[in-house]
Amino acid sequence: MKYTIDELVNRDASLISRRCWTDPAVYKLEKRGIFGRAWLFLGHESQIRRPGDFVQAYMCETPIILSRGENGQLYANINSCSHRGLPVCRADHGNTKRFICPYHNWSYTVEGALATIPQESALRNKPDKRLLGLKPVPRIASWRGLVFGSFDPDIMPLEDYLGDMRFYLDAFLDRFPQGIEFMGAPHRWVLDANWKLPVENQLGDVNHGAFLHSAIIPREAQDLIEELGYSVVTTPGHGATFRLMPEDAPVDDVAWGMEGMGGMFGGAEVQDYLREVQARAAERVGPLRARMKGLTYGIYPNLSFLWSNASFKVSHPRGPGRVEYWSWAVVPADAPAAVKRLLRTNYSSFFGPGGMLEQEDSEVWVQQFRGSNIDFADDRPYFYGLGLGEEGPHPELPGQVSVTANEFYARHFFTRWRDELQAVERAS
Ligand code: FES
Ligand SMILES: [Fe+2]
Repeated sequence: MKYTIDELVNRDASLISRRCWTDPAVYKLEKRGIFGRAWLFLGHESQIRRPGDFVQAYMCETPIILSRGENGQLYANINSCSHRGLPVCRADHGNTKRFICPYHNWSYTVEGALATIPQESALRNKPDKRLLGLKPVPRIASWRGLVFGSFDPDIMPLEDYLGDMRFYLDAFLDRFPQGIEFMGAPHRWVLDANWKLPVENQLGDVNHGAFLHSAIIPREAQDLIEELGYSVVTTPGHGATFRLMPEDAPVDDVAWGMEGMGGMFGGAEVQDYLREVQARAAERVGPLRARMKGLTYGIYPNLSFLWSNASFKVSHPRGPGRVEYWSWAVVPADAPAAVKRLLRTNYSSFFGPGGMLEQEDSEVWVQQFRGSNIDFADDRPYFYGLGLGEEGPHPELPGQVSVTANEFYARHFFTRWRDELQAVERAS
């Protein structure tokens, strides 16, 4: 590598080199230093309710099968045949008793054990099938139905890793008596951009709203975000932005979903449901969090949650200059089917590859990557210093707190990123 990590991100992360997004050597370090050591999002338990259910997932570029075993437990295995490496699971999701490799038809149970080798009937020396199962992901854990895996067998418990982000996630997830469910398969699309660009956008960049999305987000809405908005970093790399609505705000102003397509145009059934959820919010999540109207969330390294449009998203790297973005619509599990459908229209109108907002964001990430890849500008690192040092503790909100214009969420992300890459740089 032409640079040391120290040269790419300065001490307070207010200056960041373009090479962080483009250098193949940096990406190589990220694979080991970040994706090899973090908890990575695999899926939601609502996608795999019954024994034999499975969905495909990725941990960085490694394909994973997340499944529900015959015993009801969760399993995560690398989707690669022990014989010659082919993916043994070819469907995005489904229910099965066996995964059968297409090449020589070795078959694996839904838990990942090798069940049969067709060729062995012709052989005297039988291989020990117990040693030839799919490679399991060493750690798997679930919190509030969100399932994560880690390649690091010694990683801290998932709850500790999430830390105070649980306070902010629960403000949404606990609002609904039966939590949430993922509705349908994810949208998946590929962009010529670096994986960190969508992550940073979702982690706290609500400042671009009325500018990039000027056709959809009126300036008055942005003014309200600036007036009522908070940006929070709970642990470097994890963050949340939200509005804290005034105590006397009318229920329709506070209730999640009312400002979306379903809430605005869906009619009385969906509106009554949303008002009912809000009416019980204080008893479910406490008075402070009942006033929270979330915007964007990020969980280090590459999971995002967009509260305003109820969508979980993962930014899967495919090299330094390509990203496969996965995006799921999320609905309250207890809502009537018609309400779920209407709430989902809000997600698909604005997000996913054809969403009115997401198209604009996707285009920006591609242009940002191109801008990072140009020559003769290495002496011009990007300026990440907006609001430097203005964040601090808050009497009621956990974490470091500031106004939404403060870019500290990005500085904290890149400080952690830099430190983790330096640790592998030193070890190699
Ligand atoms: S590669 Fe899978 S059975 Fe041969
Ligand atoms: Fe955006």
